[in-house]
Amino acid sequence: PVLHIDCGSPVTPLNDLFGIFFEDLNHAADGGLYAELVQNRSFEFDPIDHPSYHALMAWEKVERGGQAELTVENEAPLNARNPHYAVLELKGPGSAGLMNTGFNSGISIRQGEKYRFSFYARREGGLEERVTVSLESAAGEVYAHARLTVGAVGWEKYETVLEAGETDFSGRLVILAEGQGRLYLDMVSLFPVNTYLGRENGLRADIAKLLADMKPRFMRFPGGCLVHDGSLNEEDRDSMYRWKNTLGDLAQRPARRNNWQYNQTLGLGYYEYFLFCEDIGAKPLPVLPAGYDPHHQAAVPLDELGPWIDDALDLIEFANGAADTKWGAVRASLGHPEPFGLEYLAIGNEEVGEAFFERYAYFHRAIRERYPEIQIINSSGPFAAGSEYDRGWKSARENGSDLVDEHYYQSPEWFLANMDRYDSFKADEPKIFLGEYATWGNTYYNALVEAAFMTRLERNAHAVGLACYAPMLCNVDYVNWKPDMIWFNNHQAFGTANYYVQKLFMNHQGDELLRVEAAGLGQPCKPEETPVTGGLALVADQSDVAFESISLTNDETGEVLDLGHSPVRLSNLPEAEAEGIAAALELGKTDWSAYTLRLKCRKLAGRRGFVIRFGITDADNFLYWEVGG
Ligand code: AHR
Repeated sequence: PVLHIDCGSPVTPLNDLFGIFFEDLNHAADGGLYAELVQNRSFEFDPIDHPSYHALMAWEKVERGGQAELTVENEAPLNARNPHYAVLELKGPGSAGLMNTGFNSGISIRQGEKYRFSFYARREGGLEERVTVSLESAAGEVYAHARLTVGAVGWEKYETVLEAGETDFSGRLVILAEGQGRLYLDMVSLFPVNTYLGRENGLRADIAKLLADMKPRFMRFPGGCLVHDGSLNEEDRDSMYRWKNTLGDLAQRPARRNNWQYNQTLGLGYYEYFLFCEDIGAKPLPVLPAGYDPHHQAAVPLDELGPWIDDALDLIEFANGAADTKWGAVRASLGHPEPFGLEYLAIGNEEVGEAFFERYAYFHRAIRERYPEIQIINSSGPFAAGSEYDRGWKSARENGSDLVDEHYYQSPEWFLANMDRYDSFKADEPKIFLGEYATWGNTYYNALVEAAFMTRLERNAHAVGLACYAPMLCNVDYVNWKPDMIWFNNHQAFGTANYYVQKLFMNHQGDELLRVEAAGLGQPCKPEETPVTGGLALVADQSDVAFESISLTNDETGEVLDLGHSPVRLSNLPEAEAEGIAAALELGKTDWSAYTLRLKCRKLAGRRGFVIRFGITDADNFLYWEVGG
């Protein structure tokens, strides 16, 4: 057949369809994108972060001819938000000190690169005022060193730049003192001078470049579950993520328990996120908690919700307000008098309970009233066909949310079977923000399936406003979750096949969806009419359904193909990708019209509703029928 394609008038602008999602899990920020090389720089690591954590984690005592004790105290801190500091007590002649072992195998040092060292310090007793700072190998070979003169009265910040003479990805930062007395230290920091775009307190250049190269239209941050897990009391060490704590002087940013079982310094904070978005041309898309922690079912009483709603309103003013407004002035004082141009704001992440939706309505009303131009994003739970997921949609319709955040991590087969998910969605409804999605894997096959799915997101741009793959970053030595889009250690970063698919779609994102009319293809392929040579696939949502028997009967000849259950071959798919597939087998049939498929299955106890899709595949098509229960 001759294919004739007629590209008619534009029907749907694609706007900001494809973007990225940053969450500090897998050490994506500390030990990752955030270029700080010192782990536990403020001695605030605590068992509340992880049972194995303690205040001297990643620090070791060093004795070079001298003797010392290394402890952590909190009697005279730098400030109340940074209560702990290290105390090095030298006992006599010879030098002694402490070293930081960094992240991964150590501190990544490159020959010829410069490193910005800083710390707060004070000394007491007969300690000599000269303190030596060096970059060294694990065995003590010195690659760079500098001397600082530390005063005796009160906390002061000291800085120097070190230039490395060697490359070593397992390096150490060593601080040595001499004499007899005490050296107090806090906020011990080492950054490469060569961060992304050379910013101080900046980002790791290689990882940031991989992200910039994608040309994402937006960036969702700072999470994920990280956003809404924590104490509702802002003063608690275990406080929920509150954006105002992440601004300005690093020494004043309180360390917090990261939901992903480690410590979060907040050195990469809201100002740095906004700046990075601007640097890479991505629209910022912050996510705020709604005064509800679904992990602990804790909710702020409705009559105390005011400060939480103020957080949302103040954030908009921080991003968009003139430099003479209260929060616009804070932004200007940090170095950015021009507004950041915030358009999107999400309230909540994956919540399902009434407690969230009740609170969402208050946020929504207040934001809409003061800032009608902001697109407000409502939340829905992790994907499960059934009423919980629908609750987010109900709330979005009732409140008039601009978008609803959907999340799904599923098998490639699930994605193939759900290609049509948005075909029936209407343009005049709240739009989809597909805020997290991925097939379970980093193989080419996963990437290809995601690409296929993304073409359907484009095709349904009337209903899908925004979409971003998740999670984005993973440090190979601190894996909370996989697959991920980009993997890195302390000196290398790699994009997966999934990364290159995302990059391809973002680099070549059209502006508008055109109406395409094709003629010459013949009738759509239907199993009753068109022979196909593929196999049979049964796909259930995750493992909600157990198949007890599967048979195919030829109604003309009476032949029964009993496919049983467990001996069913899982096609050629690696096991990891077969999740959710009950059966997929190649039957070599050419004509399916005479066959009846009989399934006996049961819903697993305690699970939500299920959908089974069964279909016939060939190289190009997955033709399926659907039953649910
Ligand atoms: O992307 C990883 C996690 O998956 C996110 O934090 C959460 O929103 C989802 O459950």
